[in-house]
Amino acid sequence: MYLTATPKNKLKSNLVEIRIDYGYITFRIIREGPGTLNSQTESPILSLQNVRKSFGGLKAIDDVSFDVAPCRITGLIGPNGAGKTTLFNIISGFHKPDTGEIHFKGKRIDGLSLHQTFNKKLCRTFQISRELKLMTVLDNLMLVPPNQAGEKLWRTWFCPGLVRKQEIQIREKALKILQLVGLTHLKDEYAGNLSGGQKRLLELARTMMADPEMILFDEPGAGVNPSERKTLADRIRQLVQENQITVLLIGHEMELVMDICNPIIVLERGKKLTEGTPDQVRCDPRVLEVYLGGTEE
Ligand SMILES: Nc1ncnc2c1ncn2[C@@H]1O[C@H](COP(=O)(O)OP(=O)(O)OP(=O)(O)O)[C@@H](O)[C@H]1O
Ligand SMILES: [Mg+2]
Repeated sequence: MYLTATPKNKLKSNLVEIRIDYGYITFRIIREGPGTLNSQTESPILSLQNVRKSFGGLKAIDDVSFDVAPCRITGLIGPNGAGKTTLFNIISGFHKPDTGEIHFKGKRIDGLSLHQTFNKKLCRTFQISRELKLMTVLDNLMLVPPNQAGEKLWRTWFCPGLVRKQEIQIREKALKILQLVGLTHLKDEYAGNLSGGQKRLLELARTMMADPEMILFDEPGAGVNPSERKTLADRIRQLVQENQITVLLIGHEMELVMDICNPIIVLERGKKLTEGTPDQVRCDPRVLEVYLGGTEE
């Protein structure tokens, strides 16, 4: 059986043809490729409507609305202080919005706690803390799943078999995820010894242990040297494609963002400036003004 997917430029710029060839019969499916949300055919996995958040007199998020299409990598960019991390804090439940609504998989989530959004499989990556740096890569992953039987001391006395079985399952899952992100060869290395790019992949791998449906990834390219960024970009893209995950990614490294994100949303001073494909965003004079204008000062 052969499976091929090719862009169908002649049909429409955003369509992809998928051919499943069994030798004697070929199925041909035309579907939407990466790009902005097609409101007629695709429901958003995440939807923000008129979200506002102020800190004292500062409007950190000022009437922001957008939709995120499922199983894609959507970029969120903007100059320093634009409100990107604040928006992640609001979506993940760390901050409550002052007004506005947020829906995840059709259900309202604004007002839920960080823990509650995590349980809904809307997960945020977190930096590897100082304590976790002193543990091996594999142990970093094995710590993640909640409600492990071994966490309750009495179970280790009365149900050692159950605890052992669960540990084996978690280890297998962790090894599978390490393979997905390409860190298998480093499983016994201390997390603190990893390079910048490898640490970002470990953060992603830890998040994957929670079986997320959507990941909020804040600046995966930070502290990663340019030669590692390409590997990082490839791994993120591969992970999304193979696991039906949605990613909303904040990035300052334009090369990385333009390479893997589509669409891209641009924030400026708490407001949504524009949204579009990488090419549309790259050529938008308002975006150029925000970035280049800022550096000229
Ligand atoms: N908890 C807070 N209390 C007060 N002000 C805050 C708080 N969090 C963020 N801000 C302010 O809100 C604005 C947006 O900050 P935010 O961190 O979201 O920007 P950002 O786009 O993530 O910037 P960067 O690219 O530098 O990470 C900034 O002016 C910041 O100082
Ligand atoms: Mg930030």
